[in-house]
Amino acid sequence: MTAPHPSAPARAARAAGSVRTVRKAVVPAAGLGTRFLPATKATPKEMLPVVDKPAIQYVVEEAAAAGLDDVLMVTGRHKRAIEDHFDHAAELEQTLAAKGDTVRLDAVRDPSRLASIHHIRQGDPLGLGHAVLCARRHVGDQPFAVLLGDDLIDPRESLLGRMLEVRDRRLGSVVALLEVPPERIHLYGCAAVEPTGEEDVVRVTGLVEKPSRQDAPSRYAVIGRYVLDPAVFGVLERTPPGRGGEIQLTDALQELAAGGTVHGVVFRGLRYDTGDKADYLRTVVRLACERPDLGPEFVAWLRDFVAGLGGTTPLRRNSAA
Ligand code: UTP
Repeated sequence: MTAPHPSAPARAARAAGSVRTVRKAVVPAAGLGTRFLPATKATPKEMLPVVDKPAIQYVVEEAAAAGLDDVLMVTGRHKRAIEDHFDHAAELEQTLAAKGDTVRLDAVRDPSRLASIHHIRQGDPLGLGHAVLCARRHVGDQPFAVLLGDDLIDPRESLLGRMLEVRDRRLGSVVALLEVPPERIHLYGCAAVEPTGEEDVVRVTGLVEKPSRQDAPSRYAVIGRYVLDPAVFGVLERTPPGRGGEIQLTDALQELAAGGTVHGVVFRGLRYDTGDKADYLRTVVRLACERPDLGPEFVAWLRDFVAGLGGTTPLRRNSAA
């Protein structure tokens, strides 16, 4: 565990006297990552680099930017890599400090400064619902956020902040919804919704995990951001394994939704599923193109590369040379 460092937004909120009711974030990262094998055989998928940072660092940065200064990682196999990344690296830091390389020194120190980071092991990966239940003792009787460790929201978006604000006003739990094409809804949890009068906020009346296109109650897919009422723990405790033999968070939320306490924030921004190979590639290319230090040269190379694709054979010469 690293020492507490309240994030800048959390400090600013406190200084302004507006303390949020939600302070803790839970980041489940204990899944097997089978879609990304063999890369994930010995490395958690959350640690795969997106340009030059592991995916999970973007997620913790997002939590910190929303003012959440206490982050619990739920990990399983390969715990060390995630723990080490958010801890101090004394030898590396000393070497960089001795060289006066302050840019890299900051890059090495940044992850441990983002928040007070804690870790817990899930043991067996019994499902996302079970991973969330593992956080019960740490979270206590307060609402909390859940951010999936392989699900990236573009850093320029303010989805989590909006969800926290909706929870503060409407209480209960809040899920993030993304409208997807009907042929992709079977990949997600899907929400039945009613309008609330607020353009981007809906009341969730039902939830179903990975429905067929015919059975889907809407095109609204549940994506990897949640603000949950602690009541979810009591429900999860008695939720039996559902789809895929896993304890599904969606099933517990379905019970809360039936009681009228779940809202959805409709997200229309950029979101990347780095646990999916094709989406991972798109994410890396897009974020690399947008980086001021890498973008201009990379975009020029990419244009050349794509122009050379023409038929089916990729360009073979090294156009950067
Ligand atoms: P996914 O279904 O995307 O993760 O779970 P997975 O099972 O690792 O992926 P594939 O399908 O085999 O490739 C969503 C999130 O929930 C976490 C995962 O780490 C991921 O962040 N999770 C899932 C857990 O923490 N524990 C579990 O038992 C299952």
